[in-house]
Amino acid sequence: MAGIKENIPDEAIQRLRGAKRLAILTGAGVSAESGVPTFRGKDGLWKNHLPQQLATPQAFEKDPELVWDWYHWRRKVVLEVLPNPAHYSIAELEKRVPDFTLITQNVDRLHLRAGSERILEIHGDLHHARCGECSAIAALEEHQGLVTCDICGGLMRPNVVWFGESLDVRLLEQAFIASGSSDFLIVAGTSNVVQPAASLAYAALENGGYVLEVNLDPTPLTGSATATVLGHAGEVLEELVLLAFGEQ
Ligand code: APR
Repeated sequence: MAGIKENIPDEAIQRLRGAKRLAILTGAGVSAESGVPTFRGKDGLWKNHLPQQLATPQAFEKDPELVWDWYHWRRKVVLEVLPNPAHYSIAELEKRVPDFTLITQNVDRLHLRAGSERILEIHGDLHHARCGECSAIAALEEHQGLVTCDICGGLMRPNVVWFGESLDVRLLEQAFIASGSSDFLIVAGTSNVVQPAASLAYAALENGGYVLEVNLDPTPLTGSATATVLGHAGEVLEELVLLAFGEQ
C-alpha cells in the first residue's frame, strides 16, 4: 500500500506552496485523534442518545437538564484532551500563508489551544452559554446542571448552533468570502453533509480554487474535490506541511 507521501498529489503541494489565499474547513475528524468523539461515528453516542437527537432546540425545550448534562460532559472531555498534529499543522500553515482563514465546525477550541488565531467558529463553542432571554454571553467554568443568567436570571443555553438553527450571518458571510476567494482550500475531517458548511468547498471550486479533501473515508464531496487524500488528518496534514514548506 502506498504511504501518505505518495498519496498527496504533486500538484497539491505546488499549489499550496504558491497559495496567496489559503482557507481550511475542519470538522470533527480533525479532533478524533485527540480523543474527541465524532458526531456520526460509532463513538458519538452518549448514554444511548444520538448527538443528532440532543443538539436541537426541541430537545432543549423538552429536557434542558439532559441537554446541559451532555454539554457539561462534552466540555469536560475536551478540557481533558490535547490538540493533535492536525491542529498543530493547521496552526503552522497560518504562519506560512499570510492571507489565511480557518473555518471550523468544531466547538472544542482545540485549534485555539494549538495556536491558530484567524478562526471562524461557525458552530459556536462549548465554553460559553447564551441567555435565552437577554442574549448575554457567559463563560462556563465549573458549572453543573441548568445554567442561569447572572444579568436577568433567565435560562441560558449552550452557545452553539443546533440542528435546524441558522448560523451567525456575519460569520457565515466571512466564511463564504474566505473559501470563495481562496486559491487553495483544505477540507479536513468533515462528513460534508451538514449545510451550509458543506457548500463552502463548492464556492472555492466555482472560483477556480484547488480543493484538497482529507478524510478517512470518501464523502459526498469526494467526487467534486480537486483531490482527496484518504488517511488520518494528523498524518496527512503533517506530511503536507513538510512537503510544501520543508521542516516545521
Ligand atoms: N482523520 C480524518 N478524518 C476523520 C478522522 C481522522 N482521524 N476520524 C474521522 N474522520 C472523518 C469521518 O470519516 C467523517 O467523515 O471525519 C468526519 C466526521 O464527520 P461528522 O461526525 O459528521 O462531523 P462533522 O462533519 O464535523 O459534522 C458537522 O454536524 O452534528 C453537527 O454541528 C455538528 O459541527 C457538526 C456538524
